[in-house]
Amino acid sequence: MKKLLELITDEVMSAFEAAGYERTAGKVNVSNRPDLCEYQCNGAMALAKSLKCAPIQIANAVVEKLSGSSTFSKAEAVMPGFINMNLSGEFLADYVRRQAVSEKFGLEAPEKPLKIVIDYGGPNVAKALHVGHLRPAVVGEAVKRICKYNGHDITGDVHLGDWGLPMGLVIYELQTRKPDLPYFDDSFTGDYPKEPPFTVADLEEMYPTASKKSKEDADYKAKAMEATVKLQSGVRGYRALWDHIINVSVTDMKRIYDKLNVKFDLWNGESSVHEVIPEMVDYLKKNGYAYISEGALVVDVKEETDTKEVPPCMILKSDGASLYNTTDCATIMVRTKEFDPDMMIYVTDKRQDLYFEQVFRCAHKTGLSKPETKLLHIGLGTMNGKDGKPFKTRDGGVMRLEYLLRDVCDEMYKKIKENKEISHEEAEKTASIVGLSALKYGDLSNQPAKDYIFDMERFTSFEGNTGPYILYTIVRIKSILEKYKAEGKNIDYSKIRTPENKAEKDLLNAITFFAPAAESAFNELAPNRICAFIYDLSNALNTFYHETKILTEPDEEKKQGYIALIDLTRRMLETCIDMLGFEAPERM
Ligand code: ARG
Repeated sequence: MKKLLELITDEVMSAFEAAGYERTAGKVNVSNRPDLCEYQCNGAMALAKSLKCAPIQIANAVVEKLSGSSTFSKAEAVMPGFINMNLSGEFLADYVRRQAVSEKFGLEAPEKPLKIVIDYGGPNVAKALHVGHLRPAVVGEAVKRICKYNGHDITGDVHLGDWGLPMGLVIYELQTRKPDLPYFDDSFTGDYPKEPPFTVADLEEMYPTASKKSKEDADYKAKAMEATVKLQSGVRGYRALWDHIINVSVTDMKRIYDKLNVKFDLWNGESSVHEVIPEMVDYLKKNGYAYISEGALVVDVKEETDTKEVPPCMILKSDGASLYNTTDCATIMVRTKEFDPDMMIYVTDKRQDLYFEQVFRCAHKTGLSKPETKLLHIGLGTMNGKDGKPFKTRDGGVMRLEYLLRDVCDEMYKKIKENKEISHEEAEKTASIVGLSALKYGDLSNQPAKDYIFDMERFTSFEGNTGPYILYTIVRIKSILEKYKAEGKNIDYSKIRTPENKAEKDLLNAITFFAPAAESAFNELAPNRICAFIYDLSNALNTFYHETKILTEPDEEKKQGYIALIDLTRRMLETCIDMLGFEAPERM
């Protein structure tokens, strides 16, 4: 289905043409003065300059050609030369009825679906997920779903940090605590125990302890590095221990990501590309891309147009060890071979902007990725506390992601219990659904690159631009529909009516913005576009609800029309929150 704006633009362009002007001047925009009109064309102004005549003259001529059009209820020329338009109710209702029965509410499938790999989440094994992991998971999941909804073929990979020094640190720390474990016995040839020698809580305590020790004690650090090398070179006991670390850690991560409704297609990690690193290094050397600088192997990636310094991309450290860059470059090579993607998207904190710039340039320059493959980084702003600094616990520590979600759900529970008769079980279940929406929407309604402030009071409010407000709107519609269906009636979209008042028309108008919102959310990789759309749609719905008797409407035709309209709104809202990665409860 063509977008509404395209249809109108087409018509206005034809009017320019019919009036003897250049067609391209007929570009139409959504009005930024909704008090004056719904749509607007400013083409006469630019045209007047080049033709050296009064813009209003052109606007008048165009408007005359538009008179009699069934598309508009109003098309008027306004000084100095604007063309202001309102849609006719029949045209609008017809468009919305078609949206209601079209797949994806009129959003067209792409000409050629893109193959996309999205790398998001990026947790590190043996470390607890904390607030810093919220945005890469939540934004990444939403972007993935938005791409999918737009008809693209997308694969999400968590890209675990599972290979570097942190692994050696944990292994060596364990050795100091339990030196008698068979994993550390080089002469041991039997089967290693199936049960891990630690719990997830042990791991999360061991890593920071070891990390601290290594900073204070050079000998300790050397031992940990040695353990890293042994692991990476495949020493049997170290690999077996590492498998335990991954299993224990990943099981716990999955539990938490599940609560966040974040689901990865692939659980690959930095370690997954270990085997291909020598091949890549060889390739880079042979083709003259990489050279030794101060002992390290690097690829130059600066460009003439750079205004800031872009240092070389380091492929191997001077001791020959691989690093973060190495695994990322190798991962690009592997993803290119396995998926041949049109696009690779990375979602991390924006402090990694320069890093990804280096890696992407390196990949393109050296042919690790195809020149036409788009490599994109979504650099995320920080979630701050009310003091404007990165969010902390009350005692200044790093907040666990799990506890952040728990606190939001607890707050939601309180609000749901307030002045309502509801069982503990139901309130708890509802609170976990609504709490997730509060946290995710509070995040996603911001532009990804912007910092925002975590505001418990605001995020969990049922009013304003919040997740709970959107869910409340959906639940309100559901409860009306339930009563309607209880009368034994069904829903018929062909009954959607030509609007009779402003509230009804505003709702229809809001509905028409679905496809533009979904499309721009994809083009800009911006979930906030979806949020802005559903906030407007919810506002329109609620105004309509307050001004309209729906279930008590005596005119049966009218009632059916209203019901069809709000059901369409509900489906649209539910589709959108699914793209954002949360859902609505039955009641709240
Ligand atoms: N684990 C990394 C970190 O904690 C994030 C990984 C992001 N993805 C990537 N391909 N580098 O910073």
